[in-house]
Amino acid sequence: MKIKEIEASETWPLRHKVMWPNKPLDFVVLPNDEAGLHFGLFEKEMLVSVISLFIESQDGQFRKFATDNYYQGKGFGTKLLNHLISEAKKRNIKNLRCNARMTAIEFYQRFGMKVASDIIRKNGKDYVLMELDFEQ
Ligand SMILES: CC(C)(COP(=O)(O)OP(=O)(O)OC[C@H]1O[C@@H](n2cnc3c(N)ncnc32)[C@H](O)[C@@H]1OP(=O)(O)O)[C@@H](O)C(=O)NCCC(=O)NCCS
Repeated sequence: MKIKEIEASETWPLRHKVMWPNKPLDFVVLPNDEAGLHFGLFEKEMLVSVISLFIESQDGQFRKFATDNYYQGKGFGTKLLNHLISEAKKRNIKNLRCNARMTAIEFYQRFGMKVASDIIRKNGKDYVLMELDFEQ
């Protein structure tokens, strides 16, 4: 298992396959992808989990976190999110947030993230804003 920084374009196939398989590939390309930091977890040289971090001043937002369906529930997402949290801390980020799919709320709570909004409906799915305040 190895985690390293990757190009935005390397995240697109997994984002697409795992999160929005019924949409065109362009749907998972973010307008500000080039400004983000992208991390990939490789298992036996194969990219199995991706996550992207966008930093504005001392605020960080992670987006498009996806583990290949076959590899889900094996601890890879936990390793990758822990890596992202430590990278965020290194960069002096004070607050890390994400829009969490309802199915992932409990997963993020394990990392100390807290629900910080009502339900937001977007593209036919429900989300909540979740936050992790490093200063608390
Ligand atoms: C959320 C996700 C990235 C986690 O990655 P992962 O590699 O499965 O993470 P882990 O194996 O470390 O942990 C999964 C744990 O969270 C739980 N979990 C929470 N939400 C889950 C989900 N949507 N799918 C699978 N497991 C989920 C599992 O029960 C598992 O618990 P366990 O450790 O007790 O078995 C991955 O499940 C995924 O890609 N889901 C679909 C896309 C998605 O929802 N992305 C997040 C959008 S906010």
